[in-house]
Amino acid sequence: MSKKIIALNGSANKHRNSASMLDSFIEGIRAVSPDAEIERVDVFDLDYKGCRGCMGCGLKSRKGIGCVQRDGASELLERMRAADGIVFATPVYFWEPSAQLKCLLERFIYPGELDHHIEIAAIYTMYQPEIVSEVKLPLHAQALSGNAKGFLKNINWTELAVNQTQTWESGKSDIYISPGPEAAAISEEIRAKRWPSDLERGKKAGEEFAKRLAKI
Ligand SMILES: Cc1cc2nc3c(=O)[nH]c(=O)nc-3n(C[C@H](O)[C@H](O)[C@H](O)COP(=O)(O)O)c2cc1C
Repeated sequence: MSKKIIALNGSANKHRNSASMLDSFIEGIRAVSPDAEIERVDVFDLDYKGCRGCMGCGLKSRKGIGCVQRDGASELLERMRAADGIVFATPVYFWEPSAQLKCLLERFIYPGELDHHIEIAAIYTMYQPEIVSEVKLPLHAQALSGNAKGFLKNINWTELAVNQTQTWESGKSDIYISPGPEAAAISEEIRAKRWPSDLERGKKAGEEFAKRLAKI
């Protein structure tokens, strides 16, 4: 049976770092599992809020149904709970996923135990190099994956970090207040060297994800 996969772009930018990494990951999935049913969602297109702590999902009478809030994320959350795989790509904002994506993940993770296994992949894109992110990112990233494992139980969670992305539009650094033309030029040069292999890493990670899914 073909696998159902939800692919979430957690950036408001529809064609930049996170979206492109997500698309390479999807390319990798398709290379291994051409019949996979992949739903790609730009979460900024949806109108929703984060968890309200209403505890509706914790009621014995509602066990297993997930988040009870009704808004622009409700149907997506239902499909996420029913999926075989979920991949999200997000810009790192102050060392966390984007607030928009986090709102969705709170409502996906907190309702708890799933009735089947879900394979999850998290792609983090960020401006800072590894030497900084290896110290800063794990604090929140491990808290998120730890909570996901603790609440949902039936998941496998992998991560892909993509460093030294470009925060401003390529070739237009002169119209921005920072980082200034020199820093921008250095950053663009680094990014130009790294970006093709980052996209390739994304594709490979997608292939591995699809292989793991095929075994379930
Ligand atoms: C509000 C904001 C906060 C950011 N915080 C961080 C950060 O904490 N660490 C980091 O490395 N990059 C940070 N960045 C840079 C973005 O994570 C990076 O440019 C990302 O790849 C943008 O993804 P996108 O092109 O998909 O929107 C921040 C950017 C913005 C706009």
